[in-house]
Amino acid sequence: MSTNLGIPSGKLSTEVEFKARPSDPIRRSPSPEGTIGEQIIPPDYAHEQHSTWAELYKRQSAILSGRVCAEYLDGRELLNFPSNRVPQLADLSRILKNATGWQVIRVEGYVPEPIFFRLLANKCFPCTDFIRHPTELEYTPAPDMFHDLMGHLPLITNSRFAGFFHAYGLAGLRVRNEEEVAMLGRIYWFTVEFGLMNPNAQKRDLRDVRETTIYGAGIVSSVGEIMHSLSDVVKKEPFNAEVLSQRPFDIHHMQDTLFEITSFDELESEFRRWASSKGLLD
Ligand SMILES: [Fe+2]
Repeated sequence: MSTNLGIPSGKLSTEVEFKARPSDPIRRSPSPEGTIGEQIIPPDYAHEQHSTWAELYKRQSAILSGRVCAEYLDGRELLNFPSNRVPQLADLSRILKNATGWQVIRVEGYVPEPIFFRLLANKCFPCTDFIRHPTELEYTPAPDMFHDLMGHLPLITNSRFAGFFHAYGLAGLRVRNEEEVAMLGRIYWFTVEFGLMNPNAQKRDLRDVRETTIYGAGIVSSVGEIMHSLSDVVKKEPFNAEVLSQRPFDIHHMQDTLFEITSFDELESEFRRWASSKGLLD
C-alpha cells in the first residue's frame, strides 16, 4: 500500500509528492508522476537494486509455502514475478487488467486518503517503483515496491478480494468526517495489511490453528511478520468489521492481536454490509 491511512499525512503535488530517502533509487524514474498501466516507464535500475529484489524474493519464497492462503499463491503464479530482477510495473499492470480489470498506477510515496480512495474506486492500485536499500532487507520504514508488488498485487488478481477492494474505495469516497476515515483505516490495517484466514474462524470449536494462513500484505512482504503472525504470541480473533473499525493499532510494533476471515467471500460481503449500515455504500 502507498497510502497513509491512520498515519500522519504527506502532501499532494500533481498526484503525489516524492519523498526522498537514502534508499531511494540511484536513478530516479523518468516516468511522470501518476502514470497508469502500460504507459509507466521504469527507472534504469542499478545492479544492486536487482540484487536486492532477488534476495527478498528468495527469502520470501523459502517460507511462504504452507503459510499463505491459496488465493495469494494463485495470484503470484499468474503475475509471474521475475526472481532475479526488479519487475516492471507495466508488465504486472497488463496481467492484472486481464484478470480483474484493475491497473497499477505509479506513485512516488504515500498517497493522501482522498486520492487513495478515488484510485481504488477506479480500480487503480498505487505502487512505488523504488526498492529498499540492501541494509533494509528485514525492515523498511516505508512501503517499497517489494511490499507493494509482492504484498498487494497477487490478491488483486482474485475477483472476490478485488471486489472487496473496489467496495472499500467506493466507501472511502463517502466518508463525512475524520472518524469515518479512521474507521476505514483500522479495517484496512487489520485486513489488507495484516489479515489472516482460517476456514473455521467463526466456529471456535472446529477451528484448527494449523489451518490459519496469511493474506495481509504487511505480513506477506516481511519474513519476520510471517513468523510472528502465525505464532502463539499473537491472539487470533474472528473477523468482525464493526470490531475492526474500532480497534486501535500500533504501526511501530508487531501486533499482539490479529483477525481471521473465513474467506474472501466473507470479507467482501461483511464489509459491504458494514459499510451500508454506516451509509458508506448503497
Ligand atoms: Fe501496503
